[in-house]
Amino acid sequence: MNVWIAGASSGIGAALAKRYASDGHTVFISARSVDKLNAVATEAEALTGEIKVVAVDVTDNASVLAAVAEIQSAGRIDVAVLNAGYYEPIELDALTLEHFQNTYDVNLHGVIRCLLAVLPNMRAESHGQIAIVSSVSGYSGLPRAAAYGSSKAALINLAESLQPECQAAGVDVRLINPGFVKSPLTDKNSFEMPFIIEADEAADRIANGLESKRFEVHFPKRFTLWLKLLKLLPYGLYLRLTKRL
Ligand SMILES: NC(=O)c1ccc[n+]([C@@H]2O[C@H](COP(=O)([O-])OP(=O)(O)OC[C@H]3O[C@@H](n4cnc5c(N)ncnc54)[C@H](OP(=O)(O)O)[C@@H]3O)[C@@H](O)[C@H]2O)c1
Repeated sequence: MNVWIAGASSGIGAALAKRYASDGHTVFISARSVDKLNAVATEAEALTGEIKVVAVDVTDNASVLAAVAEIQSAGRIDVAVLNAGYYEPIELDALTLEHFQNTYDVNLHGVIRCLLAVLPNMRAESHGQIAIVSSVSGYSGLPRAAAYGSSKAALINLAESLQPECQAAGVDVRLINPGFVKSPLTDKNSFEMPFIIEADEAADRIANGLESKRFEVHFPKRFTLWLKLLKLLPYGLYLRLTKRL
């Protein structure tokens, strides 16, 4: 199987690349930091599968199209994991248009660029899986995550919207909603992160989830199920609770 992971130079993406390589698959790993990608590929040399580095900047459509063309010239993409993400914890006073633009350009438009690049071939062959990596922070608005959370909420809506039509066209769209996972992204948080898990565990949950038939892969359930309940509360109660976070 050929797997493309966009956003695989660290954290969840790098761990997922190694998990797929240990299962014997060929994994194309992409991000901006070629040095870090090469390090991930070197760490995976002893594994049964193969890791190949294809640099990409998901904020640049030409870069995304070139990366996808390069991968497709080696074989069709069976699984595309759209995982590149950007997060800066930010207070109300520091909110700027630039912060929203930077966040949306990677988290939302970056995913859309990758999606639109892989979809035509997958549709033409009625084959392939696209995994959109969102977050539980997209379930409902949480303090200090106005840009990040809303970009992830848009991804959840995007995946829900695409799934029925894509399924009819033979393309399997999935939604990944992790809780807290230890990575360079969460290392920026100064608060205690409940039920945080290691990137390797997240990678296992994602790979196993994508082999199942479930549309949404969310974990760890001891955290995500509470958040799903939280979003069902009336706003009066919901906002009183989130104010304390
Ligand atoms: N960690 C968590 O608790 C958590 C929870 C829920 C969801 N998520 C989501 O999971 C995904 C992976 O996050 P992570 O925690 O593993 O963080 P991470 O280690 O910081 O990984 C982010 C990845 O995105 C890549 N990336 C960022 N900007 C890019 C760009 N313009 N073009 C191409 N690649 C770009 C980074 O590589 P370069 O910088 O080298 O380009 C890196 O490989 C993100 O979408 C994140 O929102 C994480």
